[in-house]
Amino acid sequence: MFAATRQSSRLARSFSTSARANTRVAVLGAAGGIGQPLSLLLKLNPLVSHLSLYDIRLAAGVAADVGHCNTPSTCVGYGPENDGLKKALEGAEIIIIPAGMPRKPGMTRDDLFNANASIVRDLAQAAAEVAPKARIGIIANPVNSTVPIVAEVFKKAGVYDPKRLFGVTTLDIVRASAFLSGIAGTEPKDTNVPVVVGHSGPTIVPLLSQLPAGKKVVEQGGETLAALVKRIQYGGDEVVKAKDGAGSATLSMAYAGADFTDSLLRAMKGEKGVTLCTYVESPLYKDQGVEFFSSPVELSSEGTVAKIHPVGDLHPTEQKLLEACLPDLKKNIAAGVKFMSA
Ligand code: NAD
Ligand code: LMR
Repeated sequence: MFAATRQSSRLARSFSTSARANTRVAVLGAAGGIGQPLSLLLKLNPLVSHLSLYDIRLAAGVAADVGHCNTPSTCVGYGPENDGLKKALEGAEIIIIPAGMPRKPGMTRDDLFNANASIVRDLAQAAAEVAPKARIGIIANPVNSTVPIVAEVFKKAGVYDPKRLFGVTTLDIVRASAFLSGIAGTEPKDTNVPVVVGHSGPTIVPLLSQLPAGKKVVEQGGETLAALVKRIQYGGDEVVKAKDGAGSATLSMAYAGADFTDSLLRAMKGEKGVTLCTYVESPLYKDQGVEFFSSPVELSSEGTVAKIHPVGDLHPTEQKLLEACLPDLKKNIAAGVKFMSA
């Protein structure tokens, strides 16, 4: 047997476990920089039974390609013709949306609002019509605003359930883990830094003091701490700059998006206590006018929000970061709501 064949049989065996594989997942924006590797990673997840890949271009090609991976799930691509979007959404239990423009150097995520608000709105309208009970993960930026847009779309359609709508902030947690473990010499998989509030520069607030390796760095303070916090908050800019006009994070985002989706899938499969930081409609800072907020969220056996945990004990420097960014987050949320009321 050729090495590649041997490897692929091993792969197929390792993915054909006894795990229940009965969840249909749709990726909207599946042919993009994130969409392609995300679709590949989802094809490898044994808990996915069917993948619907939608994009305004190239979706059939991506589905044909990904579909050749010898894992049990099926995979179909849809373009906008012949009601492709609705067909892609039929029966979807999880919908992940990376469709939208990425940043170029010099842009903020808010600069993407004009391009991406209507893309996300239109996709959400179709989801509200065809798969109103699906869990929806929003990757498209600016996440702080696109999630409220989806909420408004679902409210207008009379099918809004805040427990089913998530902003995907997992990449911030992945980065915090990578950067802190790089400094502290810890295992990345055991270096879980909660990252709260939202997903843009100052609204990305890592709670380093909540784990031993991070606490050390926080207590030392000085330049190491300042540089680490800045790198976590502006990790996206680091990639945008390095890609030099060719887009933003795609591969690490696909990894993070696959991890986010896996959390929903594991909870739906019956795993108890699955908890992740994600941006949801939240009571935590509602009294300050902030309707959406990211903090540790425990999932139900339906893969929906079961419990929104508070941010926990904060070091004074973290408290300061959190309080300072709430007015920005409030504006981002208001921009999304205003877009839908216009
Ligand atoms: P990309 O340009 O490579 O891909 C976007 C894809 O969306 C393209 O294939 C495009 O055809 C498709 N698309 C555009 N309009 C569509 C529509 N109406 N329906 C379906 N598909 C449509 O961009 P990318 O690098 O994959 O990034 C996508 C988005 O994700 C950007 O907004 C980016 O800022 C965001 N992003 C978010 C995070 C996060 O942490 N949440 C991380 C990285 C990137
Ligand atoms: C990221 O954090 O990498 C994404 O939000 C993309 C970006 O524009 O930085």
